[in-house]
Amino acid sequence: MLKQNRTANYSLEQVLDELERDYIASHPKSAAHVKRAAEVLPGGSTRTVLHFDPFPLVIARASGSQLVDLDGHTYTDFANDFTAAFYGHSDPVVVNALIDAIKNGLSFGGLNVYEEKLAREICSRFDSIDRVRFCNSGTEANLIALQLAKQATGRSKILAFTGGYHGSMLSFLGGKNINYGTSDFVFADFNSEESVEAAVAGVLHDLAAIVVEPMIGSGGGILAEVKFLSFLRNFSQKHGALLIFDEVQTARMARGGLQEIFGIRPDLTTLGKFLGGGGSFGAFGGAAAFMDLFDATRQGAIPHGGTFNNNIMSMAAGYAGYSRVGTPEAIAVANNRAAGLRQSLTQVAESAGVPIQLGGYGTIISIHFQSSLLTRPADIRTNAQQRKLVHLELLRRHVYAARRGTINLSLANSDEDVDHYVRAFADICEAHSPLLQN
Ligand SMILES: Cc1ncc(COP(=O)(O)O)c(C=O)c1O
Repeated sequence: MLKQNRTANYSLEQVLDELERDYIASHPKSAAHVKRAAEVLPGGSTRTVLHFDPFPLVIARASGSQLVDLDGHTYTDFANDFTAAFYGHSDPVVVNALIDAIKNGLSFGGLNVYEEKLAREICSRFDSIDRVRFCNSGTEANLIALQLAKQATGRSKILAFTGGYHGSMLSFLGGKNINYGTSDFVFADFNSEESVEAAVAGVLHDLAAIVVEPMIGSGGGILAEVKFLSFLRNFSQKHGALLIFDEVQTARMARGGLQEIFGIRPDLTTLGKFLGGGGSFGAFGGAAAFMDLFDATRQGAIPHGGTFNNNIMSMAAGYAGYSRVGTPEAIAVANNRAAGLRQSLTQVAESAGVPIQLGGYGTIISIHFQSSLLTRPADIRTNAQQRKLVHLELLRRHVYAARRGTINLSLANSDEDVDHYVRAFADICEAHSPLLQN
């Protein structure tokens, strides 16, 4: 049987065929649900990243690091809601804070006591953030931060990076998209000073901002070189443009985000995902000089509405989670665990003769099957079929992971969970080494 044996004699297509059949046979309830949902939701879902073929799993419940699907299979979660579930599922501190908060009402249409607490926690942890505003998604945070940069500078152009992702309407991953207002963008290659200089050469006088992920997340887990970020810092200062760090994924890397590790202070930072404690969330913040343009007590302040900007659930869960679960100490423990996982993944791949590069940083680990280094998304060699092979094999071994090959450890992932992943990954490398070459 193909399933038990090494795949030296099988093509990738044959192996995928077998795995797909196995997956379909063991997930009848998810299959039926997705089929029914497709009558009212295009393709059966409402978030593209969750789609994978032959059909995505429908999750029935989650707790800690474990997920259970509609068919009753239990998985150890290594996708962790694409970084948003950093605190693990239903951490009791967060759940109790939510219950306490909603007992007193959900939607006041007035200020509440939680927003100031969460804002203070963020401002105290990020050196570059004097003041913060909340919104409902990372996409919205970036859209507003870019508009703020334009209004603050009176300019109109934005420099962004090919392969970067700043939200559903600010996606530079390539392919079709639903971007908004991209005629104002110019693009450069990540980690390339020459490319930045060439991209902005004709628009320097009109450059409002540079927006950059200090680690390209969705585009493949590629860390910026410190030299490159410090070049961007000096370059933007010299030319009167704002430097915006998108830390929607990377805020989790240290007490004050990846900017603390790099020792570089952007003008504005955008945040999202886990900082809402599981609720919809986005935030942008920075120097008072810029943020106070929103101060409604001032003449001519920039208006920034948003019915749910201070919604009780995100504010209460966000504050409890950030102050009591995602503490600097807990982050350090998780980063250590992730460092051990990186070592083990490299060892098992190498001993199976599979080429491997591990991108990402700390608790975000992007696996690429190649020996050549990656400095920008265009350097990625792993193809979609190889991703599918590893993904379906991981699911068979009760590991829930992202199709794109990224592990996002949560604070609930234990050493035993990590061992589970390493065992599954070792099996897959052993069985499919010939198919994972690049
Ligand atoms: C770096 C980065 N910025 C922005 C976003 C958009 O956040 P949201 O999905 O909350 O709109 C994401 C989401 O994946 C992201 O990874």
